[in-house]
Amino acid sequence: MNKVVEVLPDKEALVARALAVVLEKMHAAIAARGICTIALAGGSTPKPLYEAIATQNLPWEKIHVFWGDERYVPPDHPDSNQAMARHAWLEKVSIPEENIHPMPTLESNPAVSAQNHEAEIREFFKTSVGEIPSLDLILLGIGDDAHTASLFPHTEALQVRDRLITVGNKDTQPRITFTVPMINQSKCVLFLVSGASKQAALAEIFADDADDFTYPARLIQPQGELWWLLDHSAGEEWKT
Ligand code: 6PG
Repeated sequence: MNKVVEVLPDKEALVARALAVVLEKMHAAIAARGICTIALAGGSTPKPLYEAIATQNLPWEKIHVFWGDERYVPPDHPDSNQAMARHAWLEKVSIPEENIHPMPTLESNPAVSAQNHEAEIREFFKTSVGEIPSLDLILLGIGDDAHTASLFPHTEALQVRDRLITVGNKDTQPRITFTVPMINQSKCVLFLVSGASKQAALAEIFADDADDFTYPARLIQPQGELWWLLDHSAGEEWKT
């Protein structure tokens, strides 16, 4: 694993740097394999990045968009990660609808949706039994509690090693999420972290000896590249 930690002066600089890294990885993937597979983070931090990506002139037919996690709400719900990314980016560019692979959230049982999405992922990547697909780029954020995707502290989802997709739980709210092995198989994981509220979580995530199940982002140790892009308010402790 190749780890990079960069602290940018402010949110605008953070978004500009993240855009440059995302574009570099997209172009490299397309040059190498003819397509780019990217999984998006939810929450609020990445929205300006998605808006910036939407301004780029890219070969959209070669870009496939997934999500690293999803709140278990309808696709048009204000909390939907899919809705946020569509409004900020996907509706503004000519990406074919078949290149957009949202996590399903309409089954009454979230576990069925997780199984269905896993089957979709395996079909898309043509994986054999036991094989974990390697996405070109996975974007992630962290919560103030050091969760990432929908891998929350001390939840069962953190222990799932034999699936690609599982059910996460934020308190009583069900989520659908990539598992730790699915994220760690990625060629590149890019964390985007902004705001002073994330400082305490970062200190535990970067500590030599903190508990992984208390601070789940510690479990993200991809076989490829690991990028942490922090703005000054989040990462002033970690000047590089
Ligand atoms: C979600 C996200 C989650 C998010 C963090 C940070 O569905 O909420 O995927 O993991 O990245 O909670 O959220 P903010 O960017 O809003 O701080």
